[in-house]
Formats: sequence, structure tokens, C-alpha cells
Amino acid sequence: MPSYLSHLECTACGARCGADEPRNLCPACGKVLYARYDLDAAKRGVDRVALAQRAATMWRYFELMPVLDPEHVVTLGEGGTPMLRARRLEAATGARTLYLKDEGLNPTGSFKARGLSAAVSKAKELGLRRLTLPSAGNAAGALAAYCARAGMEAHVFMPNDAPDANKKESELAGASLTLVEGLISDAGALAREAAARLGLFDVSTLREPYRAEGKKTMGYEIAADLGWRLPEAIIYPTGGGTGIVGMWKAFEEMEAMGWIGAERPKMIVVQAEGCAPIVRAFEQGACFAEPWADAHTVAAGIRVPSAVGDYLILDAVRASGGTALTVTDAELLDATRRIASLEGVWPAPEGAATLSAYEHLRASGFLAPETETVLMNTGSGFKYMELV
Ligand SMILES: Cc1ncc(COP(=O)(O)O)c(C=O)c1O
Repeated sequence: MPSYLSHLECTACGARCGADEPRNLCPACGKVLYARYDLDAAKRGVDRVALAQRAATMWRYFELMPVLDPEHVVTLGEGGTPMLRARRLEAATGARTLYLKDEGLNPTGSFKARGLSAAVSKAKELGLRRLTLPSAGNAAGALAAYCARAGMEAHVFMPNDAPDANKKESELAGASLTLVEGLISDAGALAREAAARLGLFDVSTLREPYRAEGKKTMGYEIAADLGWRLPEAIIYPTGGGTGIVGMWKAFEEMEAMGWIGAERPKMIVVQAEGCAPIVRAFEQGACFAEPWADAHTVAAGIRVPSAVGDYLILDAVRASGGTALTVTDAELLDATRRIASLEGVWPAPEGAATLSAYEHLRASGFLAPETETVLMNTGSGFKYMELV
């Protein structure tokens, strides 16, 4: 079971570098690096149908993951989450086909588990033992858990007003937790300073190439769940955007291996009205997003004023014929209750925002009743007790 990982490649300038030593951003231009695979060899070597015989975790796609030695995989059983047909939401919204991909069932209760399982595994393989990141909350909890599992050190930096559950899960798992007066961007500056001072490796979202590899497995799973085809639209609550760019990358890889065709879902970004840098850039036709001043929303995971992968998110949205829109906090809180009461899934507020976005897009006519749509519920509502 080989990994077909071949090298890292800059998403902006195309520079190539080896995947055999720790890397952050592109050494040539400072933009995001992607892991690249020998997809011709993978096309010959991987039988997508046989993958279904393996355990239902994201490591089912090992050949398309960046870890070379399976012994280095640090897993808590992440991935393999259900894609629920949401029939009562369909009835309530007049949709023909609506799915809820329930990432709340991941270890640590959010899709951050996928990215951090991949990043911690690769860090372990590269001999790194002390990791750091800034986080809106869920990524910190996930890093803490995977580092505990691996016997590694986690140093996490989180805004003061992050959800309580995220602070507690980080501390319980033995991470060093620093609470920061300010936003995730302020936490990021402190994490980078600590990395330089203490010799920690920075696994900030998209500043490190492998978290996106974990997140991309959502794209593989959606295709597998639909019998190796893609839905017509995917709505994703966007902060740093690793999930949306990860899924987009997965679609390209699958097409290159002949697993799917050239069709793509409309990739739809939803952000909160109080913090919407990607939506603003999309509306302005810009390629990069200016930082958002005074970011505020109860949905902590999308309280992200700037994203290092802004250009990748905007490219995916535009290339797919998708769109970007905001919802209010009142709307996403109301959607939380409706998803819970109609489908039995208590979503994270970020995940609930996808239903509000769906309803706006139906009302505007951007999505038709028959547009097969996946709502990404990125986390569990259990981690946000204080919002209920
Ligand atoms: C539950 C939840 N949803 C969405 C996001 C945004 O994810 P991304 O930064 O990959 O866009 C986060 C990030 O913290 C989150 O915790």
C-alpha cells in the first residue's frame, strides 16, 4: 500500500520542492504549497472499488495521502462520516435532494480532526515533536488530541472568546494553551513568534501543506457516497477555507485518475455578516481578500478575518460557477434549531449557516429545487453549549 506522494508544488509560482523535510509556505514566493502525487501511477495502482473493503476512515485513501510509512499514521478514526439524506429538510425547503455531510461525528467533534490527523502524522514521519498553531477553537482541540495520541507536544493559541469546550479539550489533552486578547489573526502572530523562539513547528492552516490533505478526503468521500459522481452544489462555511480548497483538489486528483469526469459542483462559500472577507472579495471581482476589520460572529470557526489561501478559495468558487454569500447570526442560530429538530443532528453554528445560505440561494433562484446540494455540517453543536 504505497503512498504516491511525489513532491510539493507552489500553488502560485509553480516552484517544486521535496516533501522529505518540514516545509511551510513556498520558499520562493511565500504562497501556499500543495502536496503532489504521481497520479498516473496511482491510476494504475489503486482500485477505487476495492477501497470500500478497508476501514471507513479517511486513511482508506492512504495511497493519496502524504504519509509514506503506515506506521506513522496517528489516527483516532477520523473520516468516514455519514452523508445523510435530509428528507425532512427537503420537505421543509421544497428541495428534491439535500444531503447533510455530518462532520460532527469526527473525533474531537469537528472536521478539523481530518486535517490535524494528516498534519500530525506527517510531522511525526518528518521527526518533528513540538507543534503549534493558532485556532478559532476546534483546530486547537484536534491538535491537542492528536499530539496526545502521538506523544508529541502541542502549543495552541486561541482567542479569549473561543468556545469553552475548545479550551477545556485542549488543556485536558495536555496542550499548552495561550488565550489571546483579539482574533485568530492575533493568535497567529503569537504562534509564529513562539515557533521562532521555542523551535516549534507551525501547523497553521495552509501555511503547512498537509492539513489540506486530510480535509480533501471529504471530497473523496462525497464522490464515493454518490457512486463516484459529484453533487451539483456544495455549501461550505468558510474561515481559512482549507476544506473547500481541499475538496477542490480532491476533485482534480480523482479526475486525473479517471475516477470521476470533468463535472464539478458549484462550490459555495458562506460566511457570517460580521466577518466576510471572501464574500467581499468575490463580489468585488478581486483575486485576493483584504483583511476584515472588527470581525464578529457567534460562529467562532468562521470568525477569521484573513485567509492565507484566499486566492485558492476564490479560484475554486469562480471556476466552479459557485458563489459566496453571508448570513446573519440570527439566521444561523435559527437554522441550528431547525436542523436539530428536523433531522436529529445538532450542528455547529458554522454548519448551520449552510442551511441559511441554501435558503437564500433558493429564494434568489441561484439554486433550483432540483439542484442536488450537500450542506457541510463541519462540527458538532455539543461544543457550543453556551449558544443554546
Ligand atoms: C466548525 C467549524 N466550521 C468551519 C470552520 C472553518 O474552517 P476553514 O478554516 O477550513 O474554512 C471552522 C474553523 O475553525 C470550524 O471549527
